Parts: sequence; C-alpha cells; structure tokens
Amino acid sequence: MQPQRHLLAIEGMYPPEIGQLLDLAESYALLNRSGKTQRDLLRGRTLINLFFEDSTRTRTSFELAGKRLGADVINMSVSASSVNKGETLLDTAATLNAMQCDLLVVRHDQSGAPALLAQKVDAAVINAGDGTHEHPTQALLDALTIRRRRGRLDGLTVAICGDIAHSRVARSNIYLLTTMGAAVRLVGPPTLMPAGAERLGLQVFHDMDAGLEGVDIVMMLRLQRERMTRGLVPSAREFFRFYGLDAARLARARPDALVMHPGPMNRGVEIDSAVADDPARSLIREQVEMGVAVRMAVLDVLGRRQIRNV
Ligand code: ASP
Ligand code: CP
Repeated sequence: MQPQRHLLAIEGMYPPEIGQLLDLAESYALLNRSGKTQRDLLRGRTLINLFFEDSTRTRTSFELAGKRLGADVINMSVSASSVNKGETLLDTAATLNAMQCDLLVVRHDQSGAPALLAQKVDAAVINAGDGTHEHPTQALLDALTIRRRRGRLDGLTVAICGDIAHSRVARSNIYLLTTMGAAVRLVGPPTLMPAGAERLGLQVFHDMDAGLEGVDIVMMLRLQRERMTRGLVPSAREFFRFYGLDAARLARARPDALVMHPGPMNRGVEIDSAVADDPARSLIREQVEMGVAVRMAVLDVLGRRQIRNV
C-alpha cells in the first residue's frame, strides 16, 4: 500500500488508511475540546484554499485546521482573482505552485478538477468537493461523528436520503461506509437516483417510510439545484411531503437512530426544524465540529509527507 500524496477521493482507500485517519482525527477532536490547539507541526508551510464554488463549513474549517497546526493559510478569493480575466484553472494552479504552496485545497464544479491539478503541481492537493464526484473530507468527518456516537461503523445500517444523483457527499459516503462494513440504503425519487446503484450492492428505496425502517443513521441531503439541468422535482412543498424528514418519518427508524446532514440545510425542504434541532437525535452540529478535527488529521498526514518530499 503506497502512502498517498494527495487526498482526491475515498474510492480506492483501504480500511486501515481510513481507520488511521479517523484515529488521528479523534485525537485532534479531543485536543480541540481541551482548548490546547496551537501546534507547530506545519510551521513554515503554506496552505492555499482555492474555492471555485461557495462554501461555509469546508473552507472555514480548512482555514482553522491549518492555523491550528501552525501553517500560513491563504484564502484565495476566486471571484476577485485573475480567473475573471480569463486565466485558466491550470495556469492559476501553476501560479500558486511557483509561490511554493505546500498544500492546495480545491473545490470546483467540474468533477476531476482536483485530480487534474494534482498532476501539475508540487503541492499536496486535497479535494474539497468536485462536481458530483467526491467530497472525501466530508465522508471522513461523517464517519468520525458516527464512530464517536456508535463506537463502530461496521454492522450499522445507514440510509442516505434525497438528491443522491447530484451529491458528491453521497458518493464519498457510499465508498467509505461500505468499505468499513456498514450497509447503505439509498432513499429518494427515481429522478434523483444515480444509475447503477443496485450494482454497487446498495439497496434502493423510492418510498421514504420503507427506506427508513429500522435504520441506525438517517443522512439527509440538500436538493442540489445548481447541478440540475432540468426540473427533476415538482416543488419544494411536494418534495417535503414525500421525502422530507420529520418526527413521524424518523419514528420508522430505530428508536435511537441519529440524524445527519452535511449542510447547508434547506429547512422545510428536506428536513424539518424540529428534527434538525433536536439535540437528542441530530448530529449536525457535531459533524461541523468533527470537520475541523478531520481536516487537521488530513493536513497533518499530507503536510508531513510533503515535508519529507522537499
Ligand atoms: N456542502 C456539501 C457540498 O458542497 C453539500 C451541499 O452543498 O449540499 O457538497
Ligand atoms: N458540507 C459542506 O461541504 O458545506 P459547505 O458547502 O458550506 O462547505
């Protein structure tokens, strides 16, 4: 097993690699809670956040994670960059490369953009979400959140619900959860289901009540309207009626089932506020907290490899 220089996808990762990253992230989660977060691990290293798509959680938590490990962190504002003057993605990356950036965190609307950059720059590239392809750090933080609450991933049944076809979060979670021994159900309308889901060994449900029956974890997804080229859902109100999560629907799941959402949420569209804000059932805030710990672990591992490569 070759140590990876970049983090581009969960697909292809082995259980020990995932397990080790989660263990390291767990130690950062404890450290963050203790308030002792200043470390010198990445002192003198430069991290650039290059986000071609909007973000609240991912960009902020990579910034925090980098700073907590002592790196110099630059948030490039793409909307105010020379991309607007016609500079290409590759030329932008080559420019940042010439400034000797060590870690490049990239979000892009085109699937495969971070992988392309990884071939062109010396920096370690981290995929912060590319099109409908993957969002690997989201799946890692989701796994850490589940593992902390349930003590394990294997043997659990997780229902991923809503707009699965356009969701990179769903894709990364499907790879991670099945690799780690969990059973994954996909729940949503046929128009929002990816082709070939059954071939991956996943159970597909178009009826939400049936899909939630007896599950341990309910993972809700936003309608990714920015990626829909045509109207695939009738209306927000109609979608909520059939696929929205409220307390009555949640009652179909195990009595101790937990609710997750990667954010941003559209309340009243895919999830009801009473469920999203229920501290006994909702893990949504903890997911955000674990996002910082997971990103510290990823920067730690890739940043150290990067140091050895210099
Ligand atoms: N924030 C996640 C993503 O960028 C999920 C979403 O936007 O709905 O993929
Ligand atoms: N979950 C997630 O990636 O959120 P942002 O789009 O706000 O980064």
